[in-house]
Amino acid sequence: MADAPETPIVASLRRALEANPDDVVLRLHLAQTLLAAGHAAGAIAEASIALQADPGNRQALGLLAAAATALSTPALSTPAAPAASEDTPDTSDTSGGFDWEQAEQEVGSAVPPPFVERVPVSPLAEDDDAAGAPLEVARETVTLSDVGGLDDVKRRLEESFLAPMRNADVARAFGKSLRGGLLLYGPPGCGKTFLARAVAGELGATFMSVSMTDVIGAYMGETQKNLKRVFDEARAQAPTVLFIDEIDSIGIRRGALSGGGAAWLRQMVNELLLQLDSMSGDNDGLYVLAATNNPWDLDEALLRPGRLDRSILVSPPDAVARASILRHHLKDRPIAGIDVGHLAAVTDGFSGADLEHVAVTAAEKAMMQSIAQGSISPITMDHLDAALREIKPSTLAWLDSARNVVRFSNANGRYDDLAALLNGKKRR
Ligand SMILES: Nc1ncnc2c1ncn2[C@@H]1O[C@H](COP(=O)(O)OP(=O)(O)OP(=O)(O)O)[C@@H](O)[C@H]1O
Ligand SMILES: [Mg+2]
Repeated sequence: MADAPETPIVASLRRALEANPDDVVLRLHLAQTLLAAGHAAGAIAEASIALQADPGNRQALGLLAAAATALSTPALSTPAAPAASEDTPDTSDTSGGFDWEQAEQEVGSAVPPPFVERVPVSPLAEDDDAAGAPLEVARETVTLSDVGGLDDVKRRLEESFLAPMRNADVARAFGKSLRGGLLLYGPPGCGKTFLARAVAGELGATFMSVSMTDVIGAYMGETQKNLKRVFDEARAQAPTVLFIDEIDSIGIRRGALSGGGAAWLRQMVNELLLQLDSMSGDNDGLYVLAATNNPWDLDEALLRPGRLDRSILVSPPDAVARASILRHHLKDRPIAGIDVGHLAAVTDGFSGADLEHVAVTAAEKAMMQSIAQGSISPITMDHLDAALREIKPSTLAWLDSARNVVRFSNANGRYDDLAALLNGKKRR
């Protein structure tokens, strides 16, 4: 958490509470101390726990109101530095100085999520111990279990390099070496970059990630040099997986530009081809994972055998995946009576990023309501319905343009999974 360090008195109160978690008086004392020290969100979290143990406790209610008021007044002394991940859409901090993320995390960790599901909808691994967890929640490393749906993609990643890397001896016995490449493609916001982060979470130091937009240099020759450096570094660390995000920023068809731009681009694409080829030559132990929204704009040569010779569609989430994504983004927030199954049913066409946006928007609405009334109101279906009225699904435009591609350029079957998705779309 991005706050000032806690005082010794807060630390010893916390220790005392660890020994006596049911001591409401002690907890309210901690809440009071936190509030006095300017940790209003922490005070709300503690007062909420006290209220759960003793509903209607007047001191707890009073503290909640005071802390909520303190939160609604822009903090002068808390230079919040929200370490939001680069991939998160820019939906946070829309309210001038108020640290939504921190407040949500702290309040969320105090209140267990009362989902009202009829059936378990999610293959997502749950960490249900949020209620009993200490308040200092470390930012999770993303793993594949955080990625909702996309079971085929996960299986492919597992077969291509995760399993061989985990079981190097067995892989060697079967003559499977780590090499080759896989292209993730699909509409924006459906988890390509998120998947790569999850792979990084699984692999740790044996994963390298680079965005093609960062590789591109200002003058001729610089991009090639950058590319070579990235690949050299990856080879030096082998076995390793190199993730190249937004590969279309340089991998586009060499015929697609004319004049000086074309020559410039050709050099960059050639360098990329060269690097991918040395990978299939004497450079075992390097696997390249790449991502793009527009695989059909890529230079065909990049997709030939030994290079990025396999493509897999990272499709918009189906209803089961939507439920699991929503659960993931709601589970650490204070919620009441959320029918995830219903939400999943009415969000066809929403990307993972759209769904995250829905959850964040609903949380902001509940937070505003809590601040206005001076007591905590959890996120309810009303907040989510209101958020859904504001947010439109973003994958439909991509799917529309993809339809033409499938019609005219799928002779080699590369986009069969996309064709299947488009044909089956009505049944989802
Ligand atoms: N399958 C998913 N499960 C859980 N969260 C998801 C999923 N897909 C997307 N998200 C959420 O949406 C955010 C945006 O997704 P991400 O950046 O991976 O999309 P992308 O496919 O790389 O999009 P772009 O093509 O625009 O780069 C993620 O950070 C994550 O929070
Ligand atoms: Mg991305």
